[in-house]
Amino acid sequence: MAEPEFKADFPTETVQEGKVKVVVPKLKAYKKQPSDYAPSKAPVFYNPVMELNRDLAVLAFQAYQRMVNRDISLCEPLTSSGIRGVRLAAEIHGAKKVLINDISERALKLARHNVHLNRLQDLIAVEHKDANCLLSCHGAPRRRFDVIDVDPFGSPVPYLDSAVRALRNKGLLAATATDLAPLCGVHAKACVRKYGGKPLRTEYCHELAVRLLAGCVATVAAKHDIGVSVVFSHSTDHYIRVYAQIGYGAKKADASIKSLGYVLHCFNCFHRETAQKLSAKFFEKCPECGSRMDWAGPLWLGKTFDTQFCERMEQENKRTALRNSRKIAKLLSLARDEAEAPATYYVIDHISDKLSLPVPSLSAVLQSLHDKGFQAFPTHFNPRGFRTDAPALVVQELLRETVSTV
Ligand SMILES: C[S@@+](CC[C@H](N)C(=O)[O-])C[C@H]1O[C@@H](n2cnc3c(N)ncnc32)[C@H](O)[C@@H]1O
Ligand SMILES: [Zn+2]
Repeated sequence: MAEPEFKADFPTETVQEGKVKVVVPKLKAYKKQPSDYAPSKAPVFYNPVMELNRDLAVLAFQAYQRMVNRDISLCEPLTSSGIRGVRLAAEIHGAKKVLINDISERALKLARHNVHLNRLQDLIAVEHKDANCLLSCHGAPRRRFDVIDVDPFGSPVPYLDSAVRALRNKGLLAATATDLAPLCGVHAKACVRKYGGKPLRTEYCHELAVRLLAGCVATVAAKHDIGVSVVFSHSTDHYIRVYAQIGYGAKKADASIKSLGYVLHCFNCFHRETAQKLSAKFFEKCPECGSRMDWAGPLWLGKTFDTQFCERMEQENKRTALRNSRKIAKLLSLARDEAEAPATYYVIDHISDKLSLPVPSLSAVLQSLHDKGFQAFPTHFNPRGFRTDAPALVVQELLRETVSTV
């Protein structure tokens, strides 16, 4: 079909990302003062910093396509300039249909132009609806998608219910959350309202944020007798992202509800533990130092990465020439290794600060933990973070020893 004539009524430029060229708002024109956040000031949202987010989406969906080994349908209900949907159609082998949608007419015109620019009009359908209406229209059995990517402003929660209903059995849901102030405990009440769980301002609050979003997905899905397993997640820059595979069946829903629980935390000695129920534990004192503990949840206590899925993504990254491929390789190898590691991580600087100690290197701390027979893993969440099964007081002691021997 011939493209309707396109002429943007705002400053634009053409950029290359992945395998596509797209027209996007010229961000320089919207940064009048240093404090201006140009992506939101432009009439159509576009954030170049999210390239890594889009790269990982391409790799995850390609890994998923190879896993199910058939052609897949994808939906991006909040597409803006269309950059993500256009990339999914152009870069994923076995993508048989991509539906992109936005409520903004200006965004839609730009997205449609980008589809034509990349000659993808046979593969991509463009809609102009409220995202929930669109997804609800795709809730019937033969209309469902294999993959849905929810990448909104702020919280994805308003779209989770319709997205879960619009996924076929074993489909994959990806959701971005940029509302880290609630999720990391700065606005705790907003987090309880939106995500149904209490956050906590700890050094590992970004992991708690992933677990709160995953817990919310599991709770929403369970209402429809759908279970979830989280195959991949990451925390990068100013956002978190969760990839959850769904599975139809009341038993699967029950199993994922069983994966919900609480993280108890002692702000005095850094002890942390997980618990399925809060009632009795909440009133307990910290088993290591006797202080009163605080808590986060209910949230997802299950796995937040699947080793095999991460490996598949690593293979796709090797096959694909992406601008960020080195950064992605590092992130994926860390994620793959932390898949089997204990929940929550310590941050060296945080402990050193509290103990008024010099700050040892991460490798020295990991080595000391290994030497004492404990598990020790770095984490993609924080370059100065580590996961271990060592008790908090042992971690403190080890840090003291490490700096005294350096
Ligand atoms: C953060 S932007 C999407 C960015 C895009 N996914 C990307 O990777 O560049 C969010 C988009 O959602 C659109 N939007 C907001 N509310 C919506 C709704 N209820 N239904 C459909 N689109 C909506 C906005 O117009 C905006 O273009
Ligand atoms: Zn304690």
